[in-house]
Amino acid sequence: MSLTHTHMHKVGFGLWKIDPKDCAQVVYDAIKAGYRHLDSACDYGNEKQVGEGIARAIADGLVTREELWITSKLWNTFHAKEHVEPALQRTLNDLQLDYLDLYLIHFPIAQPYVDFDVRYPPEWITDPDADTPCMELAPVPLSETWQAMEALVNKSLVKEIGVCNYNSGLLNDLMAYSTIKPSSLQIESHPYLTQERLIRLANHYNIQVTAFSPLGALSYLELDMAGASESVLEQPAVKAAASRLGRTPAQVVLRWGVQRGTAIIPKTTKKARMAENLALFDFELNEDEMQQISALNSNRRFNDPGDFCEAAFNTFYPIYD
Ligand SMILES: NC(=O)c1ccc[n+]([C@@H]2O[C@H](COP(=O)([O-])OP(=O)(O)OC[C@H]3O[C@@H](n4cnc5c(N)ncnc54)[C@H](OP(=O)(O)O)[C@@H]3O)[C@@H](O)[C@H]2O)c1
Repeated sequence: MSLTHTHMHKVGFGLWKIDPKDCAQVVYDAIKAGYRHLDSACDYGNEKQVGEGIARAIADGLVTREELWITSKLWNTFHAKEHVEPALQRTLNDLQLDYLDLYLIHFPIAQPYVDFDVRYPPEWITDPDADTPCMELAPVPLSETWQAMEALVNKSLVKEIGVCNYNSGLLNDLMAYSTIKPSSLQIESHPYLTQERLIRLANHYNIQVTAFSPLGALSYLELDMAGASESVLEQPAVKAAASRLGRTPAQVVLRWGVQRGTAIIPKTTKKARMAENLALFDFELNEDEMQQISALNSNRRFNDPGDFCEAAFNTFYPIYD
């Protein structure tokens, strides 16, 4: 059977910030725990190790390639039309695959090309040895990048294509010029950033929304991009639902994500949490609990280029107003 976004497993496994030295084993353990949907990216710097984990799981008979849903993402420096297919080929080689289920534009941000031999992954800073290292931009329209993404579908190198970190304006524009429509939109979403209007718009276009950082602040503590007091797991509404249901606060927050119709891709390196984060389908939040958790929304965005590009790369480049 060919998987399509309607078959995409609603709980995937996130791979950002998994140390390459642990990553092959983490991926193997995640597949063993039951994950079938893996969320990878060139930028995570661990695709070779993700590929090793997948290859070992397939060789050991845990899973077949066809049972897996594998997503990866095109990095900012490969937006020009001539760089899109080579970037995908590099990802496929690293992952030891001959096709992806889904390829996403990682950010609506085009940067100058960096050759694989110079640096891979290229990351955000164009010349790390410069006196004031900064992020440069390249004049590549997103429509050019999308057309090159469409060519990958036509060559059967990827089954579906989509975008990340688009706002409603960019999504409307993409729907106007695309021949092959995006099947997925991946955006930050959790109880502090519910993104109701954008999700409603994506639903209108029949685009599956995947929520990244579904646990909110937790991913950003180690990067000093969130404070410990911002953990949604400490919220009374979350704790009360967890205690009524006999579940953990993390399970309540993740269940809220799937119950509202988004796919979620939580990341963990811990085996116990892999199982915990998948065990979301034998309980239900009631309407009151859903509403109380949604009411925690404060439009708090942890992953905001308008903030982190200036703080870390000396470049002001907002993409959200
Ligand atoms: N498209 C994009 O621009 C974009 C941006 C960000 C993320 N993503 C994708 O989305 C995935 C998920 O987002 P994320 O990694 O930022 O954040 P996340 O999955 O919401 O949170 C991960 C953090 O939560 C901890 N954690 C996981 N399960 C837990 C549990 N049951 N109880 C308590 N703590 C738990 C993890 O620690 P341990 O590992 O120690 O368990 C880690 O610190 C990423 O891995 C990546 O694949 C995409």
